Amino acid sequence: MKKPVKGRRLADSTIAIHAGEDRFHRSVPVGTAIARTSNFTFANTEELKLWAEGKRPAYIYTRYGNPTLSVAEEKIAALEGAEAAIVTASGMAAISSALLTVLKTGDEVIATRALYGGTYRLMRDVFPRMGIVVRHLETDLAGIERLVNPRTKVLYIETPTNPTLRLVDLQKAIAFANEWDLISLIDNTFASPVLQKPIAMGFDLVMHSATKYLAGHSDVIAGVAAGSRALIGKIRDMIIHLGGSMDPEAAFLLIRGMKTLELRMRRQCETALAIARFLQKHPKVSRVHYPGLASHPDHALAKQQMKGFGAMLAFDLKGGLAAARRFCDRTRVFLLAVSLGGAESLVVLPMYSSHYRMSLAELQGAGVEPGTVRVSIGLEDRADLIEDLRQALA
Ligand SMILES: Cc1ncc(COP(=O)(O)O)c(C=O)c1O
Repeated sequence: MKKPVKGRRLADSTIAIHAGEDRFHRSVPVGTAIARTSNFTFANTEELKLWAEGKRPAYIYTRYGNPTLSVAEEKIAALEGAEAAIVTASGMAAISSALLTVLKTGDEVIATRALYGGTYRLMRDVFPRMGIVVRHLETDLAGIERLVNPRTKVLYIETPTNPTLRLVDLQKAIAFANEWDLISLIDNTFASPVLQKPIAMGFDLVMHSATKYLAGHSDVIAGVAAGSRALIGKIRDMIIHLGGSMDPEAAFLLIRGMKTLELRMRRQCETALAIARFLQKHPKVSRVHYPGLASHPDHALAKQQMKGFGAMLAFDLKGGLAAARRFCDRTRVFLLAVSLGGAESLVVLPMYSSHYRMSLAELQGAGVEPGTVRVSIGLEDRADLIEDLRQALA
């Protein structure tokens, strides 16, 4: 990136387009080059020796690092306001590798109960085999001081949550993590760095399913973790062991997607609010979960800690599961699909997707009802989307 005007902070839209790109020399392409290679040459054995001795950083093998991956990493680090970032093969690769970096047998985690289902299942099904204990709590963090003990190492949160869009008070969470000297991790997927920057508030690590808003086009599986240089260095070592590194082609798609992140997010948020208002008035809908509505329990907190209300929402149908299935089978513009954050608007039943293989008690804990429909707002025309909802609900 060329030097910014002195003392002036660039906006997210400008940062997303220029950060990390090396265009200092003439004849460098404007588009990002894909270093489609598994390995890198050394001019001589002295260079190789310096790398092996840790005296000079170098690209050696793409699982360790790659120039295209570095562009994506610098872009995300700049957007999140972090010293460094690492891109990974998926959001779950970032989350699992980060957690395994900071945890060992005997350690404990405090985590909100309402988590992305994959993260919840990782904690429920895999961590006990490693002797790692997870203690869940609600998004209001009530009773958190009763869960902490000398073995607690990590506070892990997600806000807004999937699928009911409840918020965690970031200031409260960070104050608690500081008081108890916990490593604070946050999944920032639903907000994206455009709406929420947890590093500036004191969080140690921000993670994303970059599959979603960051890449933004439903065409790549990708993840990222951003934090201090020291912590990202340790996570990089873990990813080198576990192998969840990103492919350069995926990095290219992620870089291209991020250039329009701010624009997409702005438009998607506007459409989501209009749709939430439409659904709220519909006689077949019993409840709309969207933090932009005054009726949402975390509306005031959303106004305080987010720059917009996001483009995810959920609603409960009075007719329960049967009505929710009928609705999802009848939409024409909204596609029935998992995932989120792409150009295409989607509907899905959490009970049969992110929250499958969960008991009724677990579903209740996550605020999911059988008749809950989750909606990801895309980039289509607002009137077309509302008309589609109207006909599918009719
Ligand atoms: C909030 C959240 N975190 C993490 C993940 C996992 O990311 P990935 O599917 O890229 O591994 C998802 C995926 O849906 C998600 O919604």
